[in-house]
Amino acid sequence: MYSAFAPGRVEILGNHTDYNQGLVLSAALELGTTCRGRKIEEQQYRFRSEGFTKTYQFPTGQTLQPVADWVDYPLGVLAMFIRRGFEIPPFECEFSSTLPVGAGLSSSAAIEVSFALFLCRLCGLEIQAFELAQLCKQAENEFAGVQCGLLDQVSSIFGKKDHFIFFDCKTHGVRRIAMPAGAVLLICDSTVRHELTSGEYNERRYSCFEAAEKLGFKSLREATTEQVVNSKLPELLKRRALHITGENERVRLAVEAMKKGDLAEMGWLLFESHESSRRNFENSTEELDELVEIARKIKGVYGSRLTGGGFGGATVSLVEANRAEQIAQELVEEFRRRRKLEAKVLICPVGDGAVETEDYLPNLSGS
Ligand code: GLA
Repeated sequence: MYSAFAPGRVEILGNHTDYNQGLVLSAALELGTTCRGRKIEEQQYRFRSEGFTKTYQFPTGQTLQPVADWVDYPLGVLAMFIRRGFEIPPFECEFSSTLPVGAGLSSSAAIEVSFALFLCRLCGLEIQAFELAQLCKQAENEFAGVQCGLLDQVSSIFGKKDHFIFFDCKTHGVRRIAMPAGAVLLICDSTVRHELTSGEYNERRYSCFEAAEKLGFKSLREATTEQVVNSKLPELLKRRALHITGENERVRLAVEAMKKGDLAEMGWLLFESHESSRRNFENSTEELDELVEIARKIKGVYGSRLTGGGFGGATVSLVEANRAEQIAQELVEEFRRRRKLEAKVLICPVGDGAVETEDYLPNLSGS
């Protein structure tokens, strides 16, 4: 029997910056997905999951195609391993997860990464950790049809207990920064999902690329807020671009604030980020806005914002550690009162990534 665990992640700042070659601040969670399995005699690849009733099996030696269901995440990873020329023996595997699905905590990357590590163990393969992240991302791009960046997979792989991950998507530098003392992360799932999420996501991505091209840059990473403000970009593209340049700047400021243990500044940056999502990137929802507004008025909340792709899902708040339980309760009660909805709150300890060896880290200088 072989097994591998990979955590979900929470994006703390740097919204939609990853595919714009920008900067991200994230953390791995203690919640995640475990993949267990073994080699079998029958010439098949078999997948099952505790959370989904439908099981899948595919004959070995055939071209793998997406089937528009949960299995596309591991299936895509399997296809990428095979494409890279690795010989994968027949196997059966099962997934179990402690992550809420669709809450924006990257349950999909946790499936991909746990399965990729399972395959490495099953076949005795040694793949460099960053390459593993790229392979999982490619699987998601091609099999799930979401043109995501590397944030989710990198966070799941490189997380470290009680540390935030600073990831430079241009240089691929990864740095782990100790979390500010006295604060914890509180994740609040609005439980409202939007169906067109991947379509909206891909549309934002194209807008960003278009804005960069019109500005004469390879990516929005090269642009500053001032340049965007003074540009002749059409109004909509200008707002999209401003979100990205603003987020890059906020990540830099947050890293400085963390060095000083300045929680008030960090919190302010989170609120600013949400405001930019709401106005500029338009990837928030009424429910997420409401959760942030409620959090803003609760004593002990430093900052709050939507986390992940947006268009539904969850908020992340940075809160005073010894008031976290009470804050969680107040948030849920007020949200229920205003929206008649049951939000789900998690006080999330920050956990280790799936790959714990420091040797794997590429270019640690990073910034
Ligand atoms: C999703 C994607 C990530 C990233 C975030 C937004 O989680 O999977 O690659 O783009 O949205 O920052």
